[in-house]
Amino acid sequence: AAFQDNFLIGAALNAGLTQDKDPRMSALIAKEFNSITPENCMKWGVLRDAQGQWNWTDADSFVNFGTKHKLHMVGHTLVWHSQIQDEVFKNADGSYISKAALQKKMEEHITTLAGRYKGKLAAWDVVNEAVGDDLKMRDSHWYQIMGDDFIYNAFSIANEVDPKAHLMYNDYNIERTGKREATIEMLKRLKKRGMPIHGLGIQGHVGIDTPPVAEIEKSIIAFAKLGLRVHFTELDVDVLPSVWDLPVAEVSTRFEYKPERDPYTKGLPQEMQDKLAKRYEDLFKVFIKHSDKIDRVTFWGVTDDASWLNGFPIPGRTNYPLLFDRQLQPKDAYFRVLDLKR
Ligand code: G3I
Repeated sequence: AAFQDNFLIGAALNAGLTQDKDPRMSALIAKEFNSITPENCMKWGVLRDAQGQWNWTDADSFVNFGTKHKLHMVGHTLVWHSQIQDEVFKNADGSYISKAALQKKMEEHITTLAGRYKGKLAAWDVVNEAVGDDLKMRDSHWYQIMGDDFIYNAFSIANEVDPKAHLMYNDYNIERTGKREATIEMLKRLKKRGMPIHGLGIQGHVGIDTPPVAEIEKSIIAFAKLGLRVHFTELDVDVLPSVWDLPVAEVSTRFEYKPERDPYTKGLPQEMQDKLAKRYEDLFKVFIKHSDKIDRVTFWGVTDDASWLNGFPIPGRTNYPLLFDRQLQPKDAYFRVLDLKR
């Protein structure tokens, strides 16, 4: 937590980590970070089964871990189109339930979940990823049934349940042009209706070269201009060749495992360690420059082995996106970032 005077430094924790089994890992988390986010265990489809029954085991152990180590805690996430059962939205015959019925389910969900941890979680990612890659509103079940109200109502309910919680909208690719502007438009529209929102989460799943930090800086400034506190909520740097901008001929094999798309299975060469360190240094320079606007920078994981990027979008890849390696050791990137504070 070297950036105390700038912003919180966070990490997403998977359920295994919060069981406090490995004392070395728990000590590392408590020393290096002062904020935590649950990677999966507070998502609708993980917390509840298709019948709506709750299983609190992992969510409770997350909160107990944070309490024990005196960490700031962020809830993730109340309303998202992904990791949620279809049964929430549909009747047995496959038709959609009514807007009123879905509104009732949303109320019950947010009241129960945010209510249970009221006073413990400092902030919530209330709505996650409502803008589509086509820059229109994402065509999710939520949006199909409730329109904009799914966002407006989620924030309003969360604010009623826990009036002291910092409420955020969270999305990916909004550190670049296109989705940034679409998101600003959406937020302006909802703020005009009086929606209680306090923060904006830029997930920050970035590449080793893209987007350029100048783009990221533009987003920080633009979102702060809306009167929102800015958070980097899921930061990591993908070091592998991207499969999103493959030549047309190769697009159909995008999700197939190919060795040439996974070149560092035996370790990350020094040249790439340097590149990663430089990328992180550039990112943190911008964060520090704008620390009057930024509340928190959270990494999406602690050590490289646990990163979702080892399996996305192709299972079985070996990736190196974080500051700590597979042996829990700080990488060059870690030292380069910390040097900025010296
Ligand atoms: O726990 C099960 C295991 O029992 C089963 O054998 C295995 C087989 O697939 O799956 C395991 O669940 C996986 C889970 O992660 C826990 O590892 C799910 O399949 C997998 O889909 C899930 O992925 C998570 C993903 O969200 C789901 O969309 C990633 O861990 C998590 O890092 C990722 O996080 C998201 C944020 O919430 C929102 N922003 C993007 C970010 C990255 O995709």
